[in-house]
Amino acid sequence: MKDLSTKYMGIKLKNPIIAGASGLTANLAKIQEMEAAGVGAIVIKSLFEEQIQLERYRNELEGEITSARSAEMIGPALPDQDYAGPKEHLYWLKRAKELVKIPVIGSLNAVHRETWLDYALKLADTGIDGLELNFYSVPKDFSKTGTSIEDEQIELLKEISSRINIPVAVKLSSLYTNPLQVVQRMSKTGIAGVVLFNRFFEPDIDIQKMENIFPLNLSKPQDNRHALRYTGLLSQQIQTEICSSGGIFSAADVIKMILAGANAVQIVSALYEHGTKHIATILSGIEAWMSQKGYNSLADFQGSMNKLNSKDHWAYSRAQYVRILMESPEHLRRNKTDI
Ligand SMILES: Cc1cc2nc3c(=O)[nH]c(=O)nc-3n(C[C@H](O)[C@H](O)[C@H](O)COP(=O)(O)O)c2cc1C
Repeated sequence: MKDLSTKYMGIKLKNPIIAGASGLTANLAKIQEMEAAGVGAIVIKSLFEEQIQLERYRNELEGEITSARSAEMIGPALPDQDYAGPKEHLYWLKRAKELVKIPVIGSLNAVHRETWLDYALKLADTGIDGLELNFYSVPKDFSKTGTSIEDEQIELLKEISSRINIPVAVKLSSLYTNPLQVVQRMSKTGIAGVVLFNRFFEPDIDIQKMENIFPLNLSKPQDNRHALRYTGLLSQQIQTEICSSGGIFSAADVIKMILAGANAVQIVSALYEHGTKHIATILSGIEAWMSQKGYNSLADFQGSMNKLNSKDHWAYSRAQYVRILMESPEHLRRNKTDI
């Protein structure tokens, strides 16, 4: 039996596999299944600002109904709710925490500063082990600079991590101009973890029906190279533990991230595609590889191939296809992955 334990957000995990926030972690039966399959921790589906705003709107409307003393005077019914409001979310988080023994991490995506602060505190009060801040909003304002957005996020992180008493992680978009600088600045705000990176719903267009569509946009295995690059570049260079995410499907994918310096990984698409039992398959694959290589614990190889420790100093910085152009076509055919 190998020692797969690790530390992420300052929390001891029995292994590095975290089920990332998704519809699967909004389902108590699935959460129990994942615990049975051996998952190290789970991040519960985010509480979104839209849910909070909708509840505020409903409360205001209910207030108006009461003061008007006649519901008929208000006209249309309350808006439909596809998902639970914040109160249900908080209750549900408590239930999830009671139900399993593994660490439970909450997640929040807000827009306004007051909502971020208010709900970070409310979520922390549910007894969860840590809080992940899901930092992404689609830019709508042409005049706002990237730096001003980053500054606001950093101020918010300082405020939240100084006010709540559980570890905070930030889950980032990969779309910063210089993620290295942003993550380094964020790592000095008191946060305990950084998730590299989130993956968002992307809009599409159905050209027959001539309408916008939002397909379930699952990752593919090759998608993990982006997270691998930044994990390798940031490992041992920031004061924060790294959780890599995006396109992690197999034991090999997890091992690569750990070699590049991740403390843990988050997986979602692989669980949608292969089911929750896939966690057990990944864990036994990691153990088999460790036996083959003679490693007893994750610490034996974690970060051993990050930028600082890699034999190829430029491995994570290379962005152009120079090496490919210099290789002969026969060599490339023979070594498809050796680029
Ligand atoms: C159906 C679905 C729901 C998701 N919901 C959330 C969410 O509530 N909060 C969040 O931060 N990320 C959410 N994500 C993003 C995932 O947590 C994860 O970052 C992303 O899918 C990349 O990991 P993967 O390549 O393993 O899928 C969701 C993803 C999917 C597919």
